[in-house]
Amino acid sequence: MNLLNHVAIIMDGNGRWGLKYKNSRNAGHKEGLKTVEKIIKQTIRHKIKFLTLYAFSTENWKRPKKEINYLFNLLENFLNHRINELYKQNIRLKIIGVKNFSSKLNKLLNASEKKTSKNKKLQINLALNYGSKFELINAFKTLYKKKEKINEKNLSKYLQTKNIPDPDLLIRTGNTKRLSNFLLWQLAYSEIFFEKKLWPEFNEKDYNKIIKKFKNIKRNFGKI
Ligand code: IPE
Ligand code: IPE
Ligand code: MG
Repeated sequence: MNLLNHVAIIMDGNGRWGLKYKNSRNAGHKEGLKTVEKIIKQTIRHKIKFLTLYAFSTENWKRPKKEINYLFNLLENFLNHRINELYKQNIRLKIIGVKNFSSKLNKLLNASEKKTSKNKKLQINLALNYGSKFELINAFKTLYKKKEKINEKNLSKYLQTKNIPDPDLLIRTGNTKRLSNFLLWQLAYSEIFFEKKLWPEFNEKDYNKIIKKFKNIKRNFGKI
């Protein structure tokens, strides 16, 4: 049985769900947040230590302003209302990606990270304005500037995921089979599950089923 230490999720399909059931993409984002809460609970139940959630990519800036604003308002509201509870549940929140949002949101994100920084039960890495290519280029630039030797260990130090073990399992909902610039380096040996359901319809049972399957996979890492 494989140990499961880190789950990464590309939470895709909110817009399609919203259009299908509520005639509004943004309604899908709101509904998707409910799935986030369910999945956090289950992740704790499974005693998984790291959960990385792809919430906004560097490419998502190409979306209409109205949708972008809605997403960040949703995030702001979520943090304002839930950060105390996350804190009490011994959850640590870490942002991966570049924090170049409004100064109000940047402050809230920094404060949320700081408040929960000593927590130990589960670390949630929220990928916001995250892009793997940018992350890698930046890391290589730093190595070059510092004249450090280019190897895996040194490169990892300058990734946003510094000190975070690589994901064991990647799940992408929304019936699309691509990585969309997510953790290209870190997913080198992850088990990947593409799920047909849209993120707002994904539930505990679906998650548990994937975890069960994951546990029984023969992970070779090149060996036989
Ligand atoms: C994923 O859902 C969430 C974000 C990118 C913020 P989408 O908004 O991409 O939903 P679809 O893929 O358009 O249905
Ligand atoms: C990936 O979903 C990003 C997030 C889930 C945050 P997208 O919906 O943006 O991906 P593409 O553009 O369809 O590849
Ligand atoms: Mg999408």
